[in-house]
Amino acid sequence: MRAARGQDGGARARFAPGAETLAAAVRAVAAVAHDGQNADDALASAETREDRAAVRAIALGTIRWYLRLAPVVADLVARPAGELDPLLRVLLVAGAHQVEHSRGAPEVSVHLAVDAARALGLARTTGLVNAVLRRFVRERVERLAAVDREPATRHAHPPWLVEALREAWPADLDSILDAANRHPPMTLRVDLSRGTVVDYLAELAANGRPARALPWRAGAVTLEHPAPVAALPGFRDGRVSVQDAGAQLAAPLLDVQPGERVLDACAAPGGKTGHVLELAPQAGELVAVDLDPRRMAMVEETLRRLGRQAACRVLDLAQPGALREAGPFDRVLVDAPCSATGVIRRHPDIKLLRRAADVEPLARAQQAILRNAFDALAPGGRLVYATCSLLPQESEAQVLALLAARPAATVLPWPGTVPLPPGARRLEAGVQLLPGAEADTDGFYYACLGRRPAG
Ligand SMILES: C[S@@+](CC[C@H](N)C(=O)[O-])C[C@H]1O[C@@H](n2cnc3c(N)ncnc32)[C@H](O)[C@@H]1O
Repeated sequence: MRAARGQDGGARARFAPGAETLAAAVRAVAAVAHDGQNADDALASAETREDRAAVRAIALGTIRWYLRLAPVVADLVARPAGELDPLLRVLLVAGAHQVEHSRGAPEVSVHLAVDAARALGLARTTGLVNAVLRRFVRERVERLAAVDREPATRHAHPPWLVEALREAWPADLDSILDAANRHPPMTLRVDLSRGTVVDYLAELAANGRPARALPWRAGAVTLEHPAPVAALPGFRDGRVSVQDAGAQLAAPLLDVQPGERVLDACAAPGGKTGHVLELAPQAGELVAVDLDPRRMAMVEETLRRLGRQAACRVLDLAQPGALREAGPFDRVLVDAPCSATGVIRRHPDIKLLRRAADVEPLARAQQAILRNAFDALAPGGRLVYATCSLLPQESEAQVLALLAARPAATVLPWPGTVPLPPGARRLEAGVQLLPGAEADTDGFYYACLGRRPAG
């Protein structure tokens, strides 16, 4: 297991198999936990590695359980955690995660972590890593039981978020937190203008990829086992896309008719833009707007893959009058930037990155964007407001604030043409999908709004 040593006592570039994978994962987790990077950016440098899938799995698993394991590990170190090198702190948590969640024997996980310390340039800490993780192996049942008395720690969520969720969804708190820590299903969207679900399921089966159609969402297909997109028939040529089933409600709710002008505010990376165009190929112009030029390039790339067209604009929709020249639109989708608390199962880094203080500025931006978008809506038009948030401040409260500020705004009923996912909650204004739940979607909020014709 030990790295071979050169004459100068330094480690040669050979470590136990898996130690460098663990070290790469630790670097990525440290970039999230200590430098505030999002996990995708933190993992970007590992993208060219052959073991990238393993690095990603270890890093995301460690991030998912970080807030449960870090206090246990900190208690096992004699020095205050703040005095340790951040990489070493993360290595100890990642090692504990491997002991607790990998299929290997605990002793093997400890050996790997010790070797990973060398790979990380922390050779002087191998004794400490070995001692702490061995003690974790011996005492973990009792120590985890002790921290698990606190729901936030048990579910590895930040306390502020648990309190906010308890206030919003008291009866569903445990199932929401539990769902947030599970691996999400991989759901595809079949472009029904280019083929049927039955044919696509047969194509998948012929490729050894069993899947099932969702009864409540036409075109949605969930794979039995997640797969790399490049391995999916029809992905490269745009016949299918990857999209959570809950996210596949936005385009049908928008109900675009031939010739209508459509605004997709907050469009990047273009998942819903593509779906709108697939469902309404006879639509008039579709204008896709996003604040972030880098993300707007992703919309263009998505549209190229799908073989669809939209006018792409980089604009800050929170600025007053941002859409003064662009309207009116018959249909407007506002898929607002939000805390993303409904998609933690896909992006566990949200638990480490999001702060309670982020919610208020997000809510202010949501209201500014929603008002600008509504002001660009034609009389008689339809606006869909969506978030992947579980926090009412970002969802229903935004709609109620718009109704108060714009007397011409009305809440429209959920259309009978769009089946509600099982377990969806009807609110006074809009509908909330809770993550997991019966339909096993991500968490989403949707409201359909209208603008009364000028009287
Ligand atoms: C939830 S994501 C949109 C996801 C997208 N609709 C899809 O389905 O792929 C929110 C988007 O809003 C954008 N955004 C944030 N603030 C904005 C603003 N002030 N004006 C326009 N877009 C903004 C973000 O860059 C981000 O791409």
